[in-house]
Amino acid sequence: MSNAKSPADLTITPRDVRFGRGTKYRRWWLNDDPIATAFYNALSVTFPKGEGFFIDSVRKFRDGTSPRLAKEIAAFTKQEVIHTREHVAFNRHVTEQGYDTSKLDARVDRELALTRGRPPIASLAATMCLEHFTAILAHQLVANPRHLRGGDPEAAALWRWHAIEEIEHKGVAYDTWLHATRDWPRLRRWWVKSLVMVMTTIKFFSGRTEGMLELLRQDGLTGRGVKWRLFKYAFGRPGMARKVLGAYLAFFLPGFHPWNHDDRALIGLVDSEFEAARLANA
Ligand SMILES: [Fe+2]
Ligand SMILES: [Fe+2]
Repeated sequence: MSNAKSPADLTITPRDVRFGRGTKYRRWWLNDDPIATAFYNALSVTFPKGEGFFIDSVRKFRDGTSPRLAKEIAAFTKQEVIHTREHVAFNRHVTEQGYDTSKLDARVDRELALTRGRPPIASLAATMCLEHFTAILAHQLVANPRHLRGGDPEAAALWRWHAIEEIEHKGVAYDTWLHATRDWPRLRRWWVKSLVMVMTTIKFFSGRTEGMLELLRQDGLTGRGVKWRLFKYAFGRPGMARKVLGAYLAFFLPGFHPWNHDDRALIGLVDSEFEAARLANA
C-alpha cells in the first residue's frame, strides 16, 4: 500500500475559520519586532500562489491512488484552498500597513514559471519538498509558543491554525509522490527527491531572504546590521532555522516518511485553543 506509513486513524479535517476581519494588525504585529514580522509576512505573501501550485501539482496524480489517498488529496485540497483565502486576507493587512509586496509577488511568479514546461512529476517533487518545509516549520511553531509570543491575537491564531493543518496533511504530497513513482527503482527515487530538495532549499532560502530584506527596506532598515539581525533571528533566537535542521535533514535518510515522526499531539493542543477562543467570542 502506498501510504501505509500514515497513522491508520489519521483524519484530515478542514477547519473553516476566518481571522482578522474587522480588526487591524499592528505594522509590526509580531511583538513589535520588524524582523519577526518580516519573516511571517514574507512567507505569507508566497502562500496564495504557492498553495495553488501545490494543489495543482498533487491533483494531477490522483488517478489510480488508493481510496484512502484519494480522500486525503481531497481534504488536503480543501485545507489549502481555505489557507489561501485566509492568507489573502492576512496579506491585505500587510499591504494596509503600507508595505508594497509587488517585488515579492514577482519573485514567486518567477519561481513558478520555472516549473512550466517541465514534467508534472517535477512539480510534484517540488511540492513534496515544500510541504516538508511547511510541516517542520509548523511543528516548531506549535511546539514552541515563543515563536508567536507577543503577536496580535488573531494573526497568531491564523498561523497556529495553519500550522496544525499542515501537520495533519504532511503525508499527502509525499504519499502521492510514492504512488506516482511506484515503478521507479529506489535509488532513482531517492536521488531525484534529494536533488529537488537541495534545489528547492536554495530557492526557498534565497527567495524568502530577499522578500524579508525588501520588507525591512520599506521599514527603513537596511545594511549589514539588518542581515546580521536576520541571521540571529533564524539561527540564534528563537532560531527557527536552527531548530528545524534535524527534521529537515531526516528527509534525506533512506526510509524517510513524514509520519515516521508522529506529532499529532500538537494538533490537539491548538484545536482546544480554538474551542476556547470560539467560546470567548460567543
Ligand atoms: Fe497551507
Ligand atoms: Fe500544505
